[in-house]
Amino acid sequence: MVRRIKAGMEYEANRTAPPPGFPQFPPVPGGRYVDPVFLALEKERMWRRAWLYACHGDEIPAAGSYLMFRKTGSPILIVRGKDGLIRAFYNTCRHRGGPLVKDENGKIEGFVCSYHGWSYTLDGKLINLRDRRDFVDLDLKCFSLVDVRCEMLGNWVFINEDPNATPLLESLGGIPAQFEQIKPLEQRFIHKASYHVKCNVKVLLDAFLEVYHLKSIHTNTVDRFLDHRGTTITLWPHGHSLMVTPNRRPDWVDPGTRGMRTIDTVTEIVSKNNPSFNFFPNLVTPIADSGIPFILFWPDGDNEMDIEVHWFAPDWGGGEPPALWKQRIDNFERILFEDTQFAEVIQRSVQSPGFKGVMLNYQERRIYHWHEELDRRIGVEHVPVPLRVVPTLADFVER
Ligand code: FES
Ligand SMILES: [Fe+2]
Repeated sequence: MVRRIKAGMEYEANRTAPPPGFPQFPPVPGGRYVDPVFLALEKERMWRRAWLYACHGDEIPAAGSYLMFRKTGSPILIVRGKDGLIRAFYNTCRHRGGPLVKDENGKIEGFVCSYHGWSYTLDGKLINLRDRRDFVDLDLKCFSLVDVRCEMLGNWVFINEDPNATPLLESLGGIPAQFEQIKPLEQRFIHKASYHVKCNVKVLLDAFLEVYHLKSIHTNTVDRFLDHRGTTITLWPHGHSLMVTPNRRPDWVDPGTRGMRTIDTVTEIVSKNNPSFNFFPNLVTPIADSGIPFILFWPDGDNEMDIEVHWFAPDWGGGEPPALWKQRIDNFERILFEDTQFAEVIQRSVQSPGFKGVMLNYQERRIYHWHEELDRRIGVEHVPVPLRVVPTLADFVER
């Protein structure tokens, strides 16, 4: 893989056109960004059936620690059991739907519904109910909390509302093997923040799938240290992808990472370049030896969204995270705001009749790959014909 990516960067830097035989993309129909019918399909058939990053195990460290996940609409409880395992349940009592917890996070011994007091264990079993004499022959075993699929990559917790979803690690294909080099089990949670942006979620997500915009939007930041002409891309099945962009100078080190503990098992692709993964649909993560952000894109209705950034670092040996992190997060926010401010301006123009569609070039192919996967997830037969993308990239996906 290292050799292939290095050769890929060299090839890309020196090419004068796309590789022979690479197709010109048909336009991505503009309605995919603004049409309420399409966006409702996207929500029900893709977002509510996808593996979505929810939290890190450090955020719910002890038996009974829980947090709420609300990003797909229905409130979902993520809780650590007495056996140490993390599970997810709808926050919905089996009696009449009362909430089991009302806070966004906390620690409890078990769940007691605040409406009529039905009580459940941390692993979701109904164990007691008030005035049991009035429920004739009720079999408690049949009224466990409704669970949500909850699986881990290292200590990172993902949920999926589709009970029949392919297991997380299988659906991630080649990504878990690539992640081994940053020792997932040694990555500790540092910090998270959320920013509200007035644009459709894809408007901003698209900007994190390409580096074509560096010279316009990040002239004084990212463009100074990354050379977008050498960017090499790997497309994987299920919509996932990787983009590796070389540093302009091989000896360049992000000043924000100086003095931080690093993981020494990373390859030179990670230590000397900028590799950025997309876990379809909404997790973008540029991994580094000194720690990584998970950048998450969440729809909030059709025309607004939240971007969340969760930070992790190699275990620093206990206590508060090193103070150096504050500076690093501030630097990152500055770059992030260059993207978010522009995304709101783009949203206004994509809502205009002048927006007919998205014309993508060879180096923007991750965005097309993402849209092809979206149609597969929705089920192309459900997508109105004028809003479908023409499958184009099958021969360029690495199996
Ligand atoms: S709704 Fe939960 S006990 Fe009645
Ligand atoms: Fe950007």
